[in-house]
Amino acid sequence: MNTHIYYIDDQNEALVNHLVEAMDAQSSAVEFRRFPDGESYLRVTDDCEGVNAVVVCSLSQPDDKILPLLLLVDTLKELGAKSVGLVAPYLCYMRQDIRFKPGEALSSRTFATLISQKFDWLVTVDPHLHRYNSLDEIYSIPSRVVSSTTAIASWVKHQVEKPILVGPDSESDQWLSKISELSGIPYICLEKQRSGDREVKVSSDELADWSGFSPILIDDIISSGHTMLETIKYLQQAGFNAPFCIGIHALFDDVIYQTLQDSGALVVTSNTVHHQSNKIDINVDIVAAVQRLVDS
Ligand code: R5P
Repeated sequence: MNTHIYYIDDQNEALVNHLVEAMDAQSSAVEFRRFPDGESYLRVTDDCEGVNAVVVCSLSQPDDKILPLLLLVDTLKELGAKSVGLVAPYLCYMRQDIRFKPGEALSSRTFATLISQKFDWLVTVDPHLHRYNSLDEIYSIPSRVVSSTTAIASWVKHQVEKPILVGPDSESDQWLSKISELSGIPYICLEKQRSGDREVKVSSDELADWSGFSPILIDDIISSGHTMLETIKYLQQAGFNAPFCIGIHALFDDVIYQTLQDSGALVVTSNTVHHQSNKIDINVDIVAAVQRLVDS
C-alpha cells in the first residue's frame, strides 16, 4: 500500500517518524510560508497521485493551523490522492459543546462539519467528550479515539507511596475511573465551578477521608492552567503535599507552567502536544490505531 505521511510543522516529528517506520510509508514535508499580508502559501512537493495520504497535525493553537490544513487536504485531493486522513493527537474545539449563553457559536459542531467534509477519516487521543458521548455525534467520517489511560496508569504506579488519584471535576471521571482500574489506585473527583476563562473554584466533601495519601492530580487539558492551580491550592489548604499533576494535552504557556512548578507541584504531560513537560509517550498507541484504520 502506498502511504505518504504529510506534515506542515515539525511539532509531531517523533510521531511522523514512528508512522513512516511502522507503515513503510514515505514522509512528505510540505512547503509552507506566510505572504507578507499574512495569507498562507502551501505547496505539495511530491507525487501524491493514488496514495493514501495521512496528515499529521496536533491542533493546539488551532486557528493558525486550520486554513493551512484545509489548503493541504484540498491540494492532495486535487492532485489525485486516493484518500486523506487526519491524525490530530489533540483535537481542538471540543469544549464548546453547548450554547452556555444565548447566541454563542457551537464551535464543536461547526469544526466537526468542516473536518468531516474535507477528510476521509480521523484519529485522535482522548477528545474532550462531555455532553457528546462519542465523536460520531458530530463527525460524519470514521474516527478512532486512542486512550492515554494505559500509558498514564503505568506511569502513576510507581511514583509515590500511598497514592490517591484526584480529578478536578466530574468530567474527569471518564479518565480517572479507567486509570484507577488499570493501576489499582483509588480515585476521587472534586466539584468545579468555572466563572471565567481563568476563574475556577473546586470543592469536595470526600477529601478528608483520604488524609495521609499523596495526591496525583489528573486532567485531560491544561489550558490556562487555572484548574490545576486552584486544585493544587485546595489540596494544600486541606493539608496534602504538593501533588504530581498529569495533563493529557499540554496547551498551557510557559508562564503558567512555571507558576504550577513554583507551587511545588510536579507537572507531567503526554506527548499529544509538543511541550517540555512531555513525559508520557503514547505515539505507539496512535500508530497502532492509524494502521488498523488504514488497513480496514
Ligand atoms: C474542562 O472541562 C477540562 O476538562 C479542563 O479541566 C479544562 O479545559 C482546563 O482548562 P484550564 O487549564 O484553562 O483551567
